[in-house]
Amino acid sequence: MTETDILPQPAQKRVFIKTYGCQMNVYDSDRMADALAPQGYVPTQEIGEADLVLLNTCHIREKASEKVFSELGRLRELQDEKRATGGDMMIGVAGCVAQAEGEEIARRAPVVDMVFGPQAYHRLPDMLQRAEAQRHLHPALKKAVIDTDFPEEDKFAHLPAARKEVTIKRGLTAFLTVQEGCDKFCSFCVVPYTRGAEVSRPVAQVLAEARNLVEAGVKELTLLGQNVNAYHGVDAAGRAVGLGELAYLLADIPGLERLRYTTSHPRDMDDALIAAHRDLPLLMPYLHLPVQSGSDRILKAMNRKHTAAEYLRLIERIKSARPDMALSGDFIVGFPGETDQDFEDTLTIIRETGYASAYSFKYSTRPGTPGANLGDQVAEEIKTERLYRLQELVNQQTTDFHASCVGKTMPVLIERVGRMPGQVGGRSPYLQAVHLDGSPDLIGAIHEVEIVGTSTNSLVGRLKVAAAA
Ligand code: SAH
Ligand code: SF4
Ligand code: F3S
Repeated sequence: MTETDILPQPAQKRVFIKTYGCQMNVYDSDRMADALAPQGYVPTQEIGEADLVLLNTCHIREKASEKVFSELGRLRELQDEKRATGGDMMIGVAGCVAQAEGEEIARRAPVVDMVFGPQAYHRLPDMLQRAEAQRHLHPALKKAVIDTDFPEEDKFAHLPAARKEVTIKRGLTAFLTVQEGCDKFCSFCVVPYTRGAEVSRPVAQVLAEARNLVEAGVKELTLLGQNVNAYHGVDAAGRAVGLGELAYLLADIPGLERLRYTTSHPRDMDDALIAAHRDLPLLMPYLHLPVQSGSDRILKAMNRKHTAAEYLRLIERIKSARPDMALSGDFIVGFPGETDQDFEDTLTIIRETGYASAYSFKYSTRPGTPGANLGDQVAEEIKTERLYRLQELVNQQTTDFHASCVGKTMPVLIERVGRMPGQVGGRSPYLQAVHLDGSPDLIGAIHEVEIVGTSTNSLVGRLKVAAAA
């Protein structure tokens, strides 16, 4: 008898959630699945057997948001096939494209039953009921349920708490959104419009969710926010607590062994957070700190509100607090008005910082952002060429970083059996995949591993056996 045989079963329906974009969408998709569980929905990985398909979309670049419409085209065909054999399927569009385009999505793709933004996920069960009520109407009379309001109430307080039985399946590492939205208004970016103003979850709510996850077996937590280090949740006394202080509180949770956070803005790297890196071994020495450009002129036009020199000085301070700190970054090439010299300045800041990894993108004009109104757009071929040169440099830095790990001993969180028999695999403090010979008994804990070599995109390790006393 399996566990599912003994649980009382409501009429079981299946939901397939396809997630695009950033980790916050990954977290949100899980929470949507949690919110749908009381309605009798269980997640499926098989789109063909889904009664409900949700696309959790990303609007950050044009390519990302256009994917939604091609996917909706495919879903229409799938729905037709299902209907031909007496089945059916409902379709919802969530996430940042839903927030940005709202009604327009339903107009362009009438196959859609629901369109709802990230601030409405706790209302999903209600939307679903309203959409289901229209199911048997003639297509001409159906109207998609649309919810793109920024609500007054706290979404997180209304979402069901992360359920243990679900989180166990999520394994040893978990995401936890602590902050959402952005007030920075970088001139290229849609996030302040799709996610709204910065909101931080109260400290008690974050700690409760973290404890719940750790009790369910999670060893490593990644705190998420579009601007996670702008976190300022209130504590029981009504006092605003920053991310640095929150890290100390989380460090007291027994069984939590690793803590990460992403994404940070250089302007919000305050002294308390840097001190936390100095004091807390569980805070991993790997920081994603995007700078976007190395040219002060472009940084100003991007509204990043800091200079290249200030960024470099900040990195120095972080590294003096935590000398083994490695960095990753994001870069945009071809922002309007970017000259050859501006681009060279970006290569210079990359050389001076030395990244363990980096994400880089061609500037993509986003409707509604200040950048969209700037003249002096950079030609596509120039963007392509700059992106290529930048990626060559950061790929070399990544290779060098992996090579610099050889000979070192590092704590590795062993997460799974390896690709080869007799092997296990895990992650280093720097999120590098590490493979080593070892028994599956090692899975679930952090072990000291000597790095003996590198292979494409991963490290090869050897288990350090503690010397006999
Ligand atoms: N809050 C984070 C970034 C979130 S968006 C920060 O401030 O750093 C993730 C990355 O997408 C950004 O760092 C940026 O490099 C890239 N990006 C955002 N808007 C873009 C655009 N219009 N064109 C190209 N890349 C963009
Ligand atoms: Fe976008 Fe800038 Fe906010 Fe990051 S800080 S989410 S890049 S507006
Ligand atoms: Fe994309 Fe929205 Fe995240 S635009 S990057 S899914 S915040």
